[in-house]
Amino acid sequence: MSEFATRSGVLHVEDISLTDIAARFGTPCYVYSRAGIVRQWQAFEAHMPAPHKVCYAVKANSNLAVLQVLAELGAGFDVVSGGEIARVLRAGGRAQDIVFSGVGKSDAEIRYALAQDIGQFNVESDAELDRISEIATEMDCVARISFRVNPDVDAKTHPYIATGLEANKFGIPMKDAMATYLRAAQLPAVEIVGADCHIGSQLTETQPFLDALDRMLVLVDALENEGITLKHLDMGGGLGVTYANETPPPIGEYLQAMHARLADYPHLALYLEPGRAIVANAGVLLTRVEYLKANRSKHFVMVDAGMNDLLRPSLYQAHHDIVNVVESSAPEVSGDIVGPVCETGDFLGQNRTLRVAAGDLLAVKSAGAYGFAMSSNYNSRPRPPEVMVNGDHAYLIRARETLEDVWRGESLIPNSNSQ
Ligand code: LLP
Repeated sequence: MSEFATRSGVLHVEDISLTDIAARFGTPCYVYSRAGIVRQWQAFEAHMPAPHKVCYAVKANSNLAVLQVLAELGAGFDVVSGGEIARVLRAGGRAQDIVFSGVGKSDAEIRYALAQDIGQFNVESDAELDRISEIATEMDCVARISFRVNPDVDAKTHPYIATGLEANKFGIPMKDAMATYLRAAQLPAVEIVGADCHIGSQLTETQPFLDALDRMLVLVDALENEGITLKHLDMGGGLGVTYANETPPPIGEYLQAMHARLADYPHLALYLEPGRAIVANAGVLLTRVEYLKANRSKHFVMVDAGMNDLLRPSLYQAHHDIVNVVESSAPEVSGDIVGPVCETGDFLGQNRTLRVAAGDLLAVKSAGAYGFAMSSNYNSRPRPPEVMVNGDHAYLIRARETLEDVWRGESLIPNSNSQ
């Protein structure tokens, strides 16, 4: 079931047409379905073994209202910066439900996280372990830690979003993990609570997750033999979604396969950090056709959203379906759907066939994850608004930026002509 469906020839999100949304909020505009987020969240919750915690990966979509919806459902949160911790707290999430991942945590971020008493740090290196131990000692508190271990598993995904190979910058190599755990057990002000891995994003097969899980369970057993009992195992995020023809395993199938492996570990809680699987297909980027243009070899559909609004196609050659909001009888155009940014790489879709005319509305689908979150002001383009639909209500959850917003914090220098 999708919350985005065509009724009487017009694409709707829940009970509101995208034409109404465009009239009210303008284009380009990100539109999310609250029900879509809730449905995916519930699919995870329904199939998780007890005990467990699903920590939504905030980086996928960190709008406060998105976090609020998930906090109200009782979500945990996976964060990678002090800013993301602050967002979760601002949206009503609880500090104890936060796991703090990331390869480059700064002193200030570690201090802030400890002051908020977050659930745990996913520690990515020996140097970070020492730093956390020192800061926690100084603050007279205890940091709960897991180590992010790199299981050296090929996630079979785009190289930019594969993280679990030994060659990647993430985590502690599996062969060094035991020594690091034994060292941590001797350090003051840290309490070992778990182990963690995240092998990549947009995975469309279950096997790499199971390979990683098997390797992590070998570590769990070895630690137990050394007297280190873990409370939980965090298997990260990474479950893929369907953008075009991908066939990722359904959430239930992926979880049941993991659950079966964990049957012998009833006291080991399973943590997960899904981002994309919760929000990707709950959002679209609504855009309007500005011009049709053709050169000798190619047609272009120029739209008012660009790579600054949705970077994924340019950065990863990622495919997003692009569809008419209103069924059209305009002539068919085959070509690239491109934005107004001054880069040849500024496209939202290549080699598409659509019936379009200038002024038509298009919806770029599956844009709820890593869409707005990766947007920028490149070309001094104010970022689009974000709207959340709940039934027949549409809420503005982030206003369209103004030019004042774009240059906020910049200043002119005095007497720029004199030395
Ligand atoms: N946990 C950790 C430690 C992560 O690094 C990530 C994603 C996640 C969880 C969530 O992964 P997900 O369930 O969303 O796959 N910008 C890229 C994706 C980058 C993912 C980075 N890490 C994209 O647009 O495809």
